[in-house]
Amino acid sequence: MEIVITPDPAAASRQAAAYLAALVRRNPGAVLGLATGSTPVALYRELIRLHREEQLSFSRCTTFNLDEYAGLAPGHPGSYRRFMDEHLFASIDIPASRIHIPDGLAADIPAHCAAYEQAIAGAGGIDAQILGLGSDGHIGFNEPTSSLASRTRIKTLTERTRADNARHFSSAQSVPQHVITMGIGTIMEARAIVLLAFGEKKAATVAAMVEGPVTALVPASVLQMHPVVKVMLDEPAASQLRRREYYRHVFDHKPAWQQW
Ligand code: GLP
Repeated sequence: MEIVITPDPAAASRQAAAYLAALVRRNPGAVLGLATGSTPVALYRELIRLHREEQLSFSRCTTFNLDEYAGLAPGHPGSYRRFMDEHLFASIDIPASRIHIPDGLAADIPAHCAAYEQAIAGAGGIDAQILGLGSDGHIGFNEPTSSLASRTRIKTLTERTRADNARHFSSAQSVPQHVITMGIGTIMEARAIVLLAFGEKKAATVAAMVEGPVTALVPASVLQMHPVVKVMLDEPAASQLRRREYYRHVFDHKPAWQQW
């Protein structure tokens, strides 16, 4: 894991966007794995700026989102499809046919999940996966005790996650109980992973993910087993890392030839 401690979320978001932009310029047909939640919003804003002001085109990219609430129509204000349209897709040039988000209204959920896996494989796999971090250590919606080998499937949310996400709904009770999420095994097959986490509220979870044991109780800790992971933090999110001075030292002394 490469731990990058940045002055603030804006700096981390700019760096993450620069990484994605370089990937897309190198490979215009890149396959991007996208995340929802408050954390990547500034990253998406920066991608939109790069599209408008610096001719970054997504017209040949393919995207796969991590997850969606089961039972929500794409137009529902709480749905991740709506979130993505609002925060990214409506403002860039990606064709609708290249956008993939699990269908919250799928009639046959296991078949839909299998088809989602096939679509990822058919696109050649994910080149770069963006991740946020749930306060309980989840990635996508893989809650604690999810199999570290899991594939796209239905999951039941913890009450803590429902409470965390209640702000996107009219009331806590209207947050769906069930979701469709890429599995941890699916996420681990992405060729590169960029995880963003900001704020003191995430500090203990960040420390458990980076410096704790690999355990299904903290699903994000599995990223210790992935060869290409960047963890982009602000200072408060990094505050409980025991070795944070070492991570800074490594980053400051990175050989000039080493790519991001
Ligand atoms: C949701 C999403 C996750 C996201 C998490 C953190 O549960 N399914 O992908 O990482 O929220 O959200 P936030 O970025 O708002 O803290």
